[in-house]
Amino acid sequence: MAASLAIITGSAGDIGRAIAARLAKDHDQIILADIDLSTATAAAEQLGAGFVPMQLDVTDPASCAAAAEHIAQMGTLRTLVNNAGASVAVSMQSATVSDWQSDRALNLDGPYFVFQALADQLIAAKGAVINIASVNGMGVFGHPAYSAAKAGMIHFTKMIAVEYGKYGIRANTVAPGTVRTQAWTDRAQANPQVFEEAAEHYALGRIVDPTDVAEAVGFLASPLAGAITGVCLPVDCGLTAGIPALARTFSQSQDY
Ligand SMILES: NC(=O)c1ccc[n+]([C@@H]2O[C@H](COP(=O)([O-])OP(=O)(O)OC[C@H]3O[C@@H](n4cnc5c(N)ncnc54)[C@H](O)[C@@H]3O)[C@@H](O)[C@H]2O)c1
Repeated sequence: MAASLAIITGSAGDIGRAIAARLAKDHDQIILADIDLSTATAAAEQLGAGFVPMQLDVTDPASCAAAAEHIAQMGTLRTLVNNAGASVAVSMQSATVSDWQSDRALNLDGPYFVFQALADQLIAAKGAVINIASVNGMGVFGHPAYSAAKAGMIHFTKMIAVEYGKYGIRANTVAPGTVRTQAWTDRAQANPQVFEEAAEHYALGRIVDPTDVAEAVGFLASPLAGAITGVCLPVDCGLTAGIPALARTFSQSQDY
């Protein structure tokens, strides 16, 4: 039988590596796709046998097509995780047109290019797509272009679910809250308390761990989620449910 494969874009990052480790429990090979081949290779070496690094720029349709050709030779693609993402523009007032375009290209166009390139293989395997959005796609927490792109990604995921459901493809979004990763390096340097300050707003009193995201992805990729498609699952320690300090103020009750 052909090897069952999962591909994770942006997999050299902290969340990508955690997802890769989780998906290795129920796939034969995990493709660690990243624009930076050297860090993907280092991640594959760290994770061990069964992890295959691959150079892929999700913003380049030709790069996605080349990756798809390579993957078709490797086995049966069961799972696509669109995880590559980042933000440049921090506010509307400071953003430039080029910041806006690059945030949109990476966070919205990229997942579309990757899906387009791999759709036939996913149809053949009745595969699963998991798109990593963000709580920023559900409410306003700064980073406008990134957030608009992530909101678009949530809708794009529903489009896949509805149009490709007849082929057996399921598509879902995971929307993490704050996760301590290299993406936060500059902000943590500017404010060493940034994670503690963020945690105060979360119902669970903590931020999200990469393994929290990975477990949700593992579930959505598995047959346990066989009837779940088109949903957005926040993995956010309760952030999108509400903010305890605001509930305290609004109700004037210390119960919150
Ligand atoms: N860290 C958080 O707080 C947080 C919160 C919500 C959502 N997310 C989302 O989770 C995902 C992973 O975030 P992270 O914090 O692990 O990021 P990260 O910066 O640690 O890793 C991102 C990876 O994507 C790769 N990458 C960048 N551009 C690429 C491209 N064009 N093609 C392929 N790969 C590319 C980078 O090389 C890097 O390895 C992103 O989609 C992000 O938006 C993160």
